[in-house]
Amino acid sequence: MCGPPEVGNLPRVTTTTTVPRHSRWIDEYEAGTGSATVPVRRMDFERYVADLPKYFAADGDIVMSHVLSVLSSTFPEGEKFFVRSVAAVRDEITDPQLRADIDGFIGQEQMHGREHLVLNDRLAEHGYPTRGINAYVRGLYWVRERMQSKKVNLAFTAALEHYTATLAELLLTDDDARAAVGQPGARDILTWHALEESEHKAVAYDVYKAVGGGELMRIFVMFLTDLLFIFETGVMGVISVAKDPDARRHPLKLAKSFARLRRSPFVSMRALRILAEYHRPGFHPNDRDTTALIAEWRQALFGREGQLNELVAS
Ligand SMILES: [Fe+2]
Ligand SMILES: [Fe+2]
Repeated sequence: MCGPPEVGNLPRVTTTTTVPRHSRWIDEYEAGTGSATVPVRRMDFERYVADLPKYFAADGDIVMSHVLSVLSSTFPEGEKFFVRSVAAVRDEITDPQLRADIDGFIGQEQMHGREHLVLNDRLAEHGYPTRGINAYVRGLYWVRERMQSKKVNLAFTAALEHYTATLAELLLTDDDARAAVGQPGARDILTWHALEESEHKAVAYDVYKAVGGGELMRIFVMFLTDLLFIFETGVMGVISVAKDPDARRHPLKLAKSFARLRRSPFVSMRALRILAEYHRPGFHPNDRDTTALIAEWRQALFGREGQLNELVAS
């Protein structure tokens, strides 16, 4: 049995140089500005989600709203786990480019967690069980990190990063996927998050390999991740819908909404094919070339006329 991951020499935040806007979020690591490939952008979406309606998915879709809420609820604690996994071995990495990308990865993931907590608070006001899911995920990782080695933590992080990179690619390439998210606010957070997941999709994988992670463990952990991801998000989704009195009052609408989920771009054959690539021996995240996609979305969101420029903290 292993102890909690040790912290690398990336400095922990000890002063007021980073003041958490969100009262329940502390940036654990100072990450600087990251690298050119993985830049850290300090965002503030609070006023973008202030008016978010309860069923924010396209056409007020009940089930898709709950699915997206469940995913968002798992992000803050999940991304803290990713950060701890990578920071724990940072001292062992000698490649200066990868070290700079690690800083970017840590800064981006901390920011994602923080802004998803803002969204999750808004969703909790509507009655979504975001806080219960957050507590469950925190407890789960607390237990697992006391049982798993640093390398296994990294294998799970790299596997889950393939999930987020897949969701990101679907969102950034498929108009129907973006339309399914519906309302601005939630959609903007997810699009920004998707861009950065694409930018840093290879970092955890490269760190896992750099510390000697092998193919057998990588692929085995991905199979475990497949089972856990499908089971846990499925159970959480059912609980989330079952606890919703408005959803229970409209059983026909709910049934139609469940039927529509099967046609969603997020559970399509294309999504499964991209996910499955990770199981192939010798796979690398950059085998899927998303360079042009990243350039396009950097321009759209943060270029001269960028849609999200006003949300970048100066
Ligand atoms: Fe993230
Ligand atoms: Fe990520």
